[in-house]
Amino acid sequence: MRIENKAYRTIWFEDNIVKIIDQTKLPHKFIIKNLKTVADAINAIKIMEVRGAPLIGATAAYGLVLSIIEKNDLSFLKKSSEDLIASRPTAINLKWAVDRMMKKLSGVNNNDILNIALKEAKSIVEEDVSFCKSIGLNGLKIIEEISKKKNDTVNILTHCNAGWLATIDWGTATSPIYHAHQKGIKVHVWVDETRPRNQGANLTSYELNEEGISNTVITDNAGGILMQRDQVDMCIVGTDRTLANGDVCNKIGTYLKALAAKDNNVPFYVALPSSTIDWNIKDHKKIPIEERDSEELSHVEGIDKNNQITKVRIYPEKSKSMNLAFDVTPAKYVTGLITEKGICEASEKGLKGLFK
Ligand code: MRU
Repeated sequence: MRIENKAYRTIWFEDNIVKIIDQTKLPHKFIIKNLKTVADAINAIKIMEVRGAPLIGATAAYGLVLSIIEKNDLSFLKKSSEDLIASRPTAINLKWAVDRMMKKLSGVNNNDILNIALKEAKSIVEEDVSFCKSIGLNGLKIIEEISKKKNDTVNILTHCNAGWLATIDWGTATSPIYHAHQKGIKVHVWVDETRPRNQGANLTSYELNEEGISNTVITDNAGGILMQRDQVDMCIVGTDRTLANGDVCNKIGTYLKALAAKDNNVPFYVALPSSTIDWNIKDHKKIPIEERDSEELSHVEGIDKNNQITKVRIYPEKSKSMNLAFDVTPAKYVTGLITEKGICEASEKGLKGLFK
């Protein structure tokens, strides 16, 4: 998608270096950063210079390429793969991408390994672009239907950033919105701010602005009243891990939006590529929920009048805080899952019908 009218992807490989857009500086500064070592890739995932389930998977895949460039050695590669998987625990895409790479590289000799790793990382990236595009075309049908019925602007609420910045291109939750906009359907997006890291305000609103899509940032607690006032036609969110039974783990606060949507008969859709499905865990309580540094809560970051990014504390130093990064929305609150293969019920039957 575009930034200042120039098309970008979130990650690419050039001259043995992985290039990323540093998302910790957006929307204030647009900085392309170089990742030269596997440690750089691990750090970028940890401190969320790259974030979003599909993008951290792609970064991990390229991280293994960097590991081979650094030291073409099997035990170093194995250690790199373990450290990459451990860099963020909740999004299954990370482990999925590393496992896929390691399977491809198993038994490959030292002379061929770099080329094969690079080819596989590139195919993970290209596959994600194509899956996100298909998610968009599938989800477009839902927006089209609402637009026809309503004959007015379709108001869509989204949480966090499941936009192109969270993937390689198109996004998951935003892809149907981009496709609808490109087709001339009038859409407006309610963007949950998404405390504490403000991915909604900092990233979703930013990328929608750059594509010329009408959007309004709201506090995380505003969705309920907007739904009561019939100002939300549908919700679309992304996911970090969707269980085979249709339970959806996503950014903290997603669950409360789904409850409000249910109470107000607002359709609540989840958009995901198949790389986000966890076919193994049966009970959502077994999903590792990331707990991040409490400084993300106690401090806020913004731009000051000298154009410098500044961090300030917003509550007493003595106050304790807890920063759980994800929650789980039970399948019963999900109207449908929008995947690259089509839309299905949030259930084992639904998912298995699409992914045999
Ligand atoms: O902590 P983040 O910013 O990585 O969380 C991202 C989300 O929760 C997204 O909704 C999810 O990864 C889906 S991305 C298409």
